[in-house]
Amino acid sequence: MKVENWNEISNKAMQWTKEAGEIILSSFSEERMINFKSNPSDLVTDMDQKTEQFFIEKIKSTYPTHKILGEEGFGDEVTSQEGTLWIIDPIDGTMNFVHQQRNFAISIGIYQDGVGKVGIIYDVVAGELFHCIVGSGAYLNEVALPKLNSVPLSEAVIGLNSTWVTENKRIDAEVLAPLVKAVRGTRSYGSAAIEMAYVASGRLDAYMTLRLSPWDFAAGILLIQEVSGVATNLYGKPIKLLQQNPVFVGKPVLHDEILHHFILKQSADHE
Ligand code: IPD
Ligand code: CA
Ligand code: CA
Repeated sequence: MKVENWNEISNKAMQWTKEAGEIILSSFSEERMINFKSNPSDLVTDMDQKTEQFFIEKIKSTYPTHKILGEEGFGDEVTSQEGTLWIIDPIDGTMNFVHQQRNFAISIGIYQDGVGKVGIIYDVVAGELFHCIVGSGAYLNEVALPKLNSVPLSEAVIGLNSTWVTENKRIDAEVLAPLVKAVRGTRSYGSAAIEMAYVASGRLDAYMTLRLSPWDFAAGILLIQEVSGVATNLYGKPIKLLQQNPVFVGKPVLHDEILHHFILKQSADHE
């Protein structure tokens, strides 16, 4: 296994992330090119593509042996977890970027041989940089994030997209409805990365969603685990790094309670 300098890699990644953020902010006044991907709600803009290319140029010229898995496809064709791998979502929350010009983030998770090393989520407009080097604590800007304490279900605020309590292709609409009634409240920010950063910083107590790609969760799960939060798939099993997963993250005891009293109790599909 190659010995990497994770401090240096993390510092460079944060510096590039802030630079990319500046470029995105200064692009607000320009006209955007917007295209659809899989469906009319699945948006991509020229800034998503430019931002990913910005990172690829920086990484490839500084760390030529590192591999990159980027949402927009400008990185490498990644089929194995071997070596040092950057997993990048250049703009997570593109719909927010297009409609609101806020509540979107740059997300970067760096792994070595499948083991998480660095997590960075940058809420560009809020100027909030969540980051961790695994084993050295998680930070919001320069302030260390405390370990997560659990909360009672009745006081929990959970991130949940209302899609999952309406008829949909992925889960019986009835499964999550009792949970929505049992918790104090639900929130939906429209950026999985921000929602996971909010779990890591205690602004949300849990977050669940039924289909995330590696670039959506690669950084978030590292930040959450770094503050003693739990990150699994919806059925409590390990998340598979290079594929889509239904993702469920949260505070330790709360995660277990929701998993056993709501999800596993009512869902037949425990894959
Ligand atoms: C999306 C956002 C959204 C989540 C979707 C993701 P994108 O990412 O994170 O909150 O619900 O599943 O695809 O397309 O804006 O990068
Ligand atoms: Ca995304
Ligand atoms: Ca994206």
